[in-house]
Amino acid sequence: MARVSLHEARLSEHVDRLGTEHPPIDLASVDYAVRRPAVFNERYGHVLDYMARVELEVDRNVLELTTLLPDPPEIDRRFYAEVWQPQEIRHGIILHALQVELGRPAAEPDLSSVGTKLRVLGALAHLDAFQDVCRMLYYLTGMATERSAVLAYNLLHDGVVEMGEDAVARTVIAPIKRQEPGHYAFYQLSARGLWSQLAAWQRWMVRRMRSFSFAPVGANNDVQKADFGDLMGTLGIAERGDDFAGQIARVERDLLWAHRRGLTVPPYVAKAFREAVGLAAQRAAR
Ligand SMILES: [Fe+2]
Ligand SMILES: [Fe+2]
Repeated sequence: MARVSLHEARLSEHVDRLGTEHPPIDLASVDYAVRRPAVFNERYGHVLDYMARVELEVDRNVLELTTLLPDPPEIDRRFYAEVWQPQEIRHGIILHALQVELGRPAAEPDLSSVGTKLRVLGALAHLDAFQDVCRMLYYLTGMATERSAVLAYNLLHDGVVEMGEDAVARTVIAPIKRQEPGHYAFYQLSARGLWSQLAAWQRWMVRRMRSFSFAPVGANNDVQKADFGDLMGTLGIAERGDDFAGQIARVERDLLWAHRRGLTVPPYVAKAFREAVGLAAQRAAR
């Protein structure tokens, strides 16, 4: 088989497997019992707020995606419509229910707005060669987002177990965290496959656009960036932010910045995480 069709076959197999092995979490399987709600809320309440919001924003992501990729390959459409969206929205619903159970205010996901920047990109994406640049950016964002989710849910799970909140650890966090690596794998496979097909000018454009558009997952303004900084603090990521940035952007560095020998983390990624920690510290000081 030619390399491209072998790649497509692997992707398709991966999406099939995710669909059969990871159906959306059954809401009836979730036990929201918390032994010490006040302590739990104090420690992890804001982390749940952040994660619930980001998971619930999946529907806006789909909207952005269809703007950005007016004519997506069938495998991308199948992944986000049949696997990714149904799983993520369930993550959001469950985390949100836990949040409300703890007496926290309801999440306010932004589900409507597709920014002007994206609309312009979407219009340009009707040109095939440019659509591949957009697709590459979409895969890179997906990789960083899902890798962040994998790391954050692992740390959250450890912390929740340590607090003795077994029901939440076992029926909320564990089932969610099991579904994130498959999403990461999809974007990673897709990114590797597409990067190998891009022309030099497309690669140049991807690097440029990525350098000025990178943001941590769900952090689209200063308040959200500070919220993300707080989450990093609670999960113990803040003090080793560069290491976290490195793990999130490892494949991105290997693909986009292979010619920059010795580069450990793309500078825009490290900077974005440092900025989030800084904004959280400033807010705490006020
Ligand atoms: Fe998720
Ligand atoms: Fe995910």
